[in-house]
Amino acid sequence: MTVANESAGYTATQILLHWAIATLIVLQLVIGEDIKPAYRAFSRGNAPTADDVFNANIHVYVGLAVLVLAVWRLAARLRSGVPAAPPEESVLLKRIAATTHFLLYLFIFGMPITGALAWYFDFAAMGEIHELAKPVIIVVVGLHAAAALWQHFFVKSDVLVRMLRPAARHTR
Ligand code: HEM
Ligand code: HEM
Repeated sequence: MTVANESAGYTATQILLHWAIATLIVLQLVIGEDIKPAYRAFSRGNAPTADDVFNANIHVYVGLAVLVLAVWRLAARLRSGVPAAPPEESVLLKRIAATTHFLLYLFIFGMPITGALAWYFDFAAMGEIHELAKPVIIVVVGLHAAAALWQHFFVKSDVLVRMLRPAARHTR
């Protein structure tokens, strides 16, 4: 994705947002099923149990928090830019990384939006898309994490470290 200028590295804000969103997404993937009993009950015009509503609310509010953090993160990216891919990386790998990052952005915006359309407007098709995205996200995030670890341990680039330590010039 080429929506920002190149920077010396990620800012502290960008790093914090990356790991906060990653943690919340993993949590959502784990607890995702917990919203289904309440969702089914509402869709069929039945009253869900208090426990079902409680479980559903956790999924809804954690998901909406991801959307807020995603907006902040995109704004931070547009303002501060992102560091360039390692220069020794092939054009193909750079394209794969950029496409993966674009898809990850699509998920952190798309999942809360499709979920909210299903939950608040009973938009069943959005619920279907939301569910179908689950395995796709698991594969893309898995490849993304594997690529980061591969870069760190085998290629020995600074790609993982720069997502852990803010660039010296940026302290925001
Ligand atoms: C980061 C954001 C989110 C992620 C990663 C996520 C993930 C998931 C997962 C894994 C499931 C279970 C899918 C399955 O069992 O096949 C699910 C179901 C569901 N989620 Fe989310 N979710 C997110 C945000 C939201 C939000 C913000 C809402 C509502 C405001 C929401 C509403 C729903 C609903 C209604 C279902 C049940 C869909 C159905 O059964 O058709 N989700 N979600
Ligand atoms: C749901 C989980 C995750 C999401 C949504 C996500 C998303 C992203 C996105 C969109 C970027 C591009 C940079 C930006 O615009 O901020 C990025 C970069 C990065 N991510 Fe993740 N990520 C996730 C999990 C992980 C995990 C588990 C790891 C490590 C094991 C990881 C390591 C990295 C690294 C090292 C970069 C920097 C890449 C570079 O500078 O070229 N991410 N991530």
